[in-house]
Amino acid sequence: MRAWAGQQAVGGAVVVVLVVGGLWWAVSQPTPPPECGASLASLKDTLVRAIREEAQRRDTTHSHLPLIYVITPTYARPEQIPELTRLGQTLMGVPRVHWVVAEDAHVSNMRVVTYLKHTGLPHTYLLTPMPEEYRNQTMQPKGVANRNGGLAWVRARATEGVVFFADDDNAYDLRLFEEMRYTSRVSMWPVGLIIGSGVSTPVLRNGRFVGWYDAWIGGRTFPVDMAGFARPDALMPFKPGHEEDGFLRSLGISQSDIEFKAAECTQIYVWHTQTKKNYPYSRQILSPKFDGTNLRVLQRDIMLQPG
Ligand code: UGA
Ligand code: MN
Repeated sequence: MRAWAGQQAVGGAVVVVLVVGGLWWAVSQPTPPPECGASLASLKDTLVRAIREEAQRRDTTHSHLPLIYVITPTYARPEQIPELTRLGQTLMGVPRVHWVVAEDAHVSNMRVVTYLKHTGLPHTYLLTPMPEEYRNQTMQPKGVANRNGGLAWVRARATEGVVFFADDDNAYDLRLFEEMRYTSRVSMWPVGLIIGSGVSTPVLRNGRFVGWYDAWIGGRTFPVDMAGFARPDALMPFKPGHEEDGFLRSLGISQSDIEFKAAECTQIYVWHTQTKKNYPYSRQILSPKFDGTNLRVLQRDIMLQPG
């Protein structure tokens, strides 16, 4: 692909012209004052994205793109399928993705298996139960066995690609996946809706790393949320609160290796949303008075109290 970008001052405005294989894009915006580093950075991001999108439009197999392995821990509860539906439909908008769904269970959950088939996404379903010794702790290492199981699967098969841990309940902007796709060591970006601080992010001044912003620093070298980074691969410890930090430190990376994404951490593309907890529903749907009705079908799709 032939691409060229130029910038020229025209009558108080900066006109940025981009040529992609014969296609012309023109973006104009007022001349930025010198301190507008973030808006210049986001303009650059827009242009880079336009070039990539044009390349993708021409190659419908997307085979030239690095593969993104999305590893999702999940477990059975009434809101499980709704959460996976939101995430699955997001991933349908991501080219070259493989979804590794690792369930905290000993037996296959047919609701999940059936839903994954329905998405048509390249996927793998794994059973990765939390070891019993952690199950009784007050602070449980949620999703750790799942993520390690997913990583082991990826490592045994992948020769290239990027790994991202996507909890089943967060909200993801499609732009996040394009940001992480070109990661060499580790990429980081802000995560919104973090309890206590509203956002968790590396802090940059004039594009340079100066520290971390998070509700809980806790002596961690990398005080980041699970949804706040992507990279090739490694293992994480069963230590609640220290999973992300332990994972990143085991890679031997330093702060200078971090690639800051999302327009130099000025955009939020992932949100730590939390769905209200629903408890299993009463069994009144099983009453014989509903025999022969559609409720006999619907009862399979909701989680009922144990009988
Ligand atoms: C926060 C962080 O954002 C998570 O990345 C971190 O794993 C988690 O804390 C933690 O406590 O370790 P939070 O929203 O509190 O997330 O946790 P959940 O969304 O309830 O669980 C994180 C992931 O683990 C989810 O994908 C969930 O489906 C899965 N999970 C949770 C299990 O597989 N088993 C469980 O028993 C609980
Ligand atoms: Mn969550």
